[in-house]
Amino acid sequence: MTGLIIMGPPGSGKGTQAKQLAKQFDIATISTGNLLRTNIKEGTEIGHQAEDFIQAGKIVPDSLVDALVDDCFHNGHFEHGFLLDGYPRNIAQVKTLDGVLNRYGSALDLVLHLHLDEEIVVSRILKRAEIEGRDDDTEPVIRHRLEVYEKQTKPVLEEYKSRNLVADIAADGTVSEVFAGLCEAVKAVTS
Ligand code: AP5
Ligand code: MG
Repeated sequence: MTGLIIMGPPGSGKGTQAKQLAKQFDIATISTGNLLRTNIKEGTEIGHQAEDFIQAGKIVPDSLVDALVDDCFHNGHFEHGFLLDGYPRNIAQVKTLDGVLNRYGSALDLVLHLHLDEEIVVSRILKRAEIEGRDDDTEPVIRHRLEVYEKQTKPVLEEYKSRNLVADIAADGTVSEVFAGLCEAVKAVTS
């Protein structure tokens, strides 16, 4: 069982790389952002409660996302391993995840940290905005998401660094270059 987290600022390539990593290592991926957007599209109660936060680029209340993640473990999605994209996003979620992993007899092997220049992420997201039209992909909201990342999610990185779980991966190369770096880091802890 392989337990992975992929983290990095908005637009750093988490979703793009998570898809390929899940295939490569035959594990299930969970993106809290994707799950929340699906809930909004389907008009669920969770979607309704999350919508305004997402549109403003703010973190959705912990109780909503914690429940989504717990559900995935509960339903056995992670039989062969898991890759979390976009979770945990603050220290409270780190503690919740510790409890969830404990409860389901799982553990974290590695936190993959994608790092790159802020201006590159803004330009990547603005490009994506033209293709996908995500509601939170306007320049002011992107800048706010980056601030939220600095304030609330950077401490998550520090916490996992103190546990010696982090592999820093440069994310400014091509998709396949970044993927090669990620695979090397995962193989180093799983083989
Ligand atoms: P979330 O969906 O997690 O968004 P994000 O963290 O802002 O990150 P993105 O999905 O925008 O970017 P990404 O890193 O996945 O990059 P991608 O691969 O798409 O969260 C959205 C919102 O949901 C949050 O603001 C919050 O409100 C809420 N939320 C989610 N999780 C939560 C949680 N745990 N707690 C509370 N609230 C939560 O790549 C970006 C673009 O670049 C794409 O177009 C891609 O094709 C392109 N690209 C990727 N790699 C490369 C490359 N190497 N070279 C060139 N282009 C590339
Ligand atoms: Mg994403």
